[in-house]
Amino acid sequence: MSGNPTWNPSQYLRFGAERLQPAIDLIGRLSHPAPKRVVDLGCGAGNALPLLAARFPGAEVTGVDGSPDMLAKAASGGFGTVQADIASWEPAEKVDVIFSNAALQWLPDHALLFPRLLSCLAPGGMLAVQMPAMDDTPARRLQLETAGQGPWAPSVAGVATVRPVPVPGVYYDLLRPLVPRLDLWVTEYVHQLQGADPVMQWFKGSSLQPYLDAMPQEMRPDFLAAYAEAIRPHYPPQTDGVTLLSFRRLFLIASLQEQASSY
Ligand SMILES: C[S@@+](CC[C@H](N)C(=O)[O-])C[C@H]1O[C@@H](n2cnc3c(N)ncnc32)[C@H](O)[C@@H]1O
Repeated sequence: MSGNPTWNPSQYLRFGAERLQPAIDLIGRLSHPAPKRVVDLGCGAGNALPLLAARFPGAEVTGVDGSPDMLAKAASGGFGTVQADIASWEPAEKVDVIFSNAALQWLPDHALLFPRLLSCLAPGGMLAVQMPAMDDTPARRLQLETAGQGPWAPSVAGVATVRPVPVPGVYYDLLRPLVPRLDLWVTEYVHQLQGADPVMQWFKGSSLQPYLDAMPQEMRPDFLAAYAEAIRPHYPPQTDGVTLLSFRRLFLIASLQEQASSY
């Protein structure tokens, strides 16, 4: 598996509504007239599967993921699931819509991966992707800093967590020569989080997990406390106690048909 950490569905879904909103927004831009096969790549706990099925009632919707714990939750919704590493996944038959929300940033070599995914599409097919673009934020920067300072540092040195997502122009140069239509856009969500240290709790369910996996269990509480302390000044609570987390996300739809997504 290409660097996929342990996934804890209940920690990830503490902020399920916030994490689902970009999937809803991406589905809203999908204009395929009548897909037969739709795949959610990196479907996780399967939250987008019912939305894809509702958007495309005639389609067979399948979730693909590498985490058995996430897939078990996805399968409990009654959807077909496949356990596979996205890096080497190939569908048995060509797919009309490949959808991927917040998953491909975990994989390396997008210059190889994205064209390969396009080759899995049937004529007129669409590749629709959303990835967080948070590399230059305190939340991400202080993960790297905290990981490098402390007794856990030797055990987490070299750990691969989410990869920096390149600027839209990189995907334009990569994909535009390959498709007749490419839509690219960026949205910055301002999530309203409740509870103590919610930004630490948010990333504990995603990009902190590879560090937690790599360090001895007894160091994990101190590592999380050190990260929470480091980010607290950057994410102060509002007057009512709510913490705002600005979260930038890159979206793209690469379409094999010219009249693709609608605004
Ligand atoms: C942040 S979660 C997103 C889940 C879901 N798409 C959603 O929006 O809620 C990322 C998912 O990608 C999966 N993933 C990451 N790297 C993977 C890989 N190389 N192969 C298969 N699945 C992978 C993880 O198992 C995880 O379920």
